[in-house]
Amino acid sequence: MILLDSERDAISARISEACPPEIQKVLTAAWAHDVATVKKLLDTPEAARGQDPLTGETPLHAAIRSCGPPSEDDDEADLAAARETVQELLLWGGIWNDVDDRNETPGCVAHRLGRTELYNLCVDAGVRAEMLFGVLEGYEELESDDEEEDEEDAHQEAGESEMVVVGEDGEEAPELINVPTNGAAEEASQGFVPPQDNAVDVNSEQYLRSKLTYSDGKLVDDEGNGVMMAWETDIMRQSVDALLPSKEPGKRILNIGFGMGIIDTMFAETKPAKHHIVEAHPGVLEHISSPDSKFGPSWEASAPEPGAYKIHQGKWQEVCVKLLQEGNVYDAIYFDTFGEDYSQLRMFFTELIPGLLDSNGIFGFFNGLGADRMICYDVYTKVSELHLADAGLDVEWKVIDVDMSRLAEEGQGEWEGVRRRYWTLDKYRLPICTFLG
Ligand SMILES: C[S@@+](CC[C@H](N)C(=O)[O-])C[C@H]1O[C@@H](n2cnc3c(N)ncnc32)[C@H](O)[C@@H]1O
Repeated sequence: MILLDSERDAISARISEACPPEIQKVLTAAWAHDVATVKKLLDTPEAARGQDPLTGETPLHAAIRSCGPPSEDDDEADLAAARETVQELLLWGGIWNDVDDRNETPGCVAHRLGRTELYNLCVDAGVRAEMLFGVLEGYEELESDDEEEDEEDAHQEAGESEMVVVGEDGEEAPELINVPTNGAAEEASQGFVPPQDNAVDVNSEQYLRSKLTYSDGKLVDDEGNGVMMAWETDIMRQSVDALLPSKEPGKRILNIGFGMGIIDTMFAETKPAKHHIVEAHPGVLEHISSPDSKFGPSWEASAPEPGAYKIHQGKWQEVCVKLLQEGNVYDAIYFDTFGEDYSQLRMFFTELIPGLLDSNGIFGFFNGLGADRMICYDVYTKVSELHLADAGLDVEWKVIDVDMSRLAEEGQGEWEGVRRRYWTLDKYRLPICTFLG
């Protein structure tokens, strides 16, 4: 039997008989937007974080889901109570990014139902948690060497599920959703186990050791993760247009991450005065040096000045410090790596952009941050905006359409042979960053 959304979202389908009474009480009060009872029951963060062991329903899910989609029958007093309930739960440590058995966070439910105000409360909570996590992570690093435990603590303290950094072409894209590796929901006594997806934890070291395959419009690593894919060509085109708005030749360009050379081919066509490319992966470097590559020795030799067109081999973390020390300055800088987490992108724009970018220059990056889920994309748009401002940069987001016709289904169309559908959204926010003031 296929359940309609309204049946699937019914209280009977969401709060199961297996739910321990103390969790059930909070879930029921949250579902009813009974603010007084919710306040009485919330005396520890655990109370706000309880989950039905079978459905994964949290009090935040319940408070949002019970609103249903907007309708003529909406009762303003109930909606105000729903907002207050959600705020109270968040205040008491309710987790903005816990997923239920359908892989939905409370914010995903709000988005699906069209409850914008409640969705925005979830986004704001995510931004606060991520900003706090950024601070706690730095603080914990100073305190101890036990990184894994510290990171878990920092996430808990920040009021979110532990982060799993997932390899995808979002490169530094954070995976804000906790996806454990121990299978589907089992016994009620074990608590709720969120549904498994095929996310893998890719880190930079592992990635840089992996064997890469260039084939048929994509570059994949030996786990089948999409490092770069041809469907991103339009994003690269529009990024070049944003970084070089005057289209004049003679610009100084720095690109971090060669991949399939899509953006570098476009940059090269503008006849720059300087074109530096930083690439760390031995497989990509081998591809670049192959006889039919456009970026081999004859490209380097065609530069207006010796050294002006150059592939800099190595990790940007080391190469860019050298470029900085040598006094290189660029009119346009693009950043698009793979297998690195958001802290690296943040470090790039905080520590390197101020020295490498001309005062009238433009900086851009591939914005795949959290792009496998609308709420994570929205959270990371705000988080990166705040961190960019911290680094003295203003960001304008140019919204562009993404043709989803061949991107809509996992394993199908463009995703055939790719382990994970890292992009799920029909709009891309293209960042155009310039110095403030
Ligand atoms: C997504 S691809 C870049 C795609 C490129 N924008 C294009 O248009 O084809 C990411 C590239 O960054 C490289 N990379 C990853 N980590 C790096 C690092 N720390 N330093 C330099 N390059 C890195 C990868 O090897 C890969 O070639």
